[in-house]
Amino acid sequence: MVNGKLSAGFKKGLEDVIAGESKICKVDGKRGRLYYRGYSIEDLSTNCTFEEVTYLLLEGKLPNRKELARFTKELSSMRNLPKYVVEILEEVAHRTTPMEALRTAVSSLAGGDKDVEGITTDYHLAQGKSMVAKFATIVAYYHRINNKMEIVKPDPSLGHAANFLYMVTGKRPSEIEAMAMDQDLVLHAEHSFNASTFAARITVSTLSDMYSAMTTGIGVLKGPLHGGASEAVMRQLQAIGSVEKVEPYVKDALSKHRRMMGIGHRVYKVYDPRARILKKTAERFSKATGDMKWYNIADKIERVMFREKKLYPNVDFFSSIIYNGLGLPLELDSPIFAISRVSGWSAHALEQYGDNRLIRPLDYYTGPIDLKFIPIDERK
Ligand code: COA
Repeated sequence: MVNGKLSAGFKKGLEDVIAGESKICKVDGKRGRLYYRGYSIEDLSTNCTFEEVTYLLLEGKLPNRKELARFTKELSSMRNLPKYVVEILEEVAHRTTPMEALRTAVSSLAGGDKDVEGITTDYHLAQGKSMVAKFATIVAYYHRINNKMEIVKPDPSLGHAANFLYMVTGKRPSEIEAMAMDQDLVLHAEHSFNASTFAARITVSTLSDMYSAMTTGIGVLKGPLHGGASEAVMRQLQAIGSVEKVEPYVKDALSKHRRMMGIGHRVYKVYDPRARILKKTAERFSKATGDMKWYNIADKIERVMFREKKLYPNVDFFSSIIYNGLGLPLELDSPIFAISRVSGWSAHALEQYGDNRLIRPLDYYTGPIDLKFIPIDERK
């Protein structure tokens, strides 16, 4: 408030504020629809690999077979990390969370790129692809190093999703496992002006470099109200422990104004379409592994939260159950979001560079002015 009046146009948290133009992603929060470059998420998540969707986001069109083969090969050729980045991971892994290690390693990638300040689209596109390829390797290496296991080098014969699972677990995934991972990466790849993407665009708008923009994205994604929710969901399921305990747990949380993780969304006021798809996969996966415990608890939370608050699950709610079924450690839940969203961040960075104007909003100053200055010795 200033002079008792609320400034016109001011919206706390920029809620409902249109902060830029974009051709990359349409989120229809009222109808629960999501489109990447005009294609529905239902079509993309059932028909496309992560590489295909990344091509779509970066290049603006779906690739034909030849283009996809070339792009997939190019990405897989970029997976290896420079030696000094592996050494940095060895140095920091035991003192950091995986998101912190990812942030540090991605920032350090700039040191190995002589074209870091390159200002043409070609440089930015190459850097974006390189980071899409390398994020997965960084997260997998972090995990292996932190757990005192030999690192598993990328296998160029495997697709991006399958290779990630292979590098983390040391085992080649089954086709069903690889497909579930692929679908999850597709569903997390892009989501318009979410907090991390908008922050990455702000970095680009100062004409800073791609590595800085991606590092910004990771830092913002890390928070529990954004990508950090993924890990918090499984911790919440573990804390509840059984279907019978859901009701008292949720009631207690709501009475203390605690958030149920993986529930609610700033834009979707109906069912998040990504959660709808992931719920089916989580159910299938849980049935296949014979472990329905987490799915059943989640399903009950969903029903209680709808009854109590008319809120729905978001993208993070069921993905943690799938990761669990894939044998992925809980602490990698949020970094997996990053290894997917880097493709969306890169697409937005390219779009911002292509039609840039420095993003510099105004604030709504609510402090005093014209105070009488007090010399240092007279201050209490
Ligand atoms: N658990 C309990 N209550 C929730 C809630 C949740 N997860 N999310 C929203 N609410 C409630 C709020 O308390 C508020 O209730 P009230 O009107 O009775 O005070 C109402 O729903 C509106 O919430 P608001 O904070 O205005 O929504 P938002 O748009 O700022 O929040 C999120 C969006 C995502 C930050 C929020 O839903 C949340 O914190 N979810 C949990 C974290 C999460 O899963 N993040 C991942 C997002 S993809």
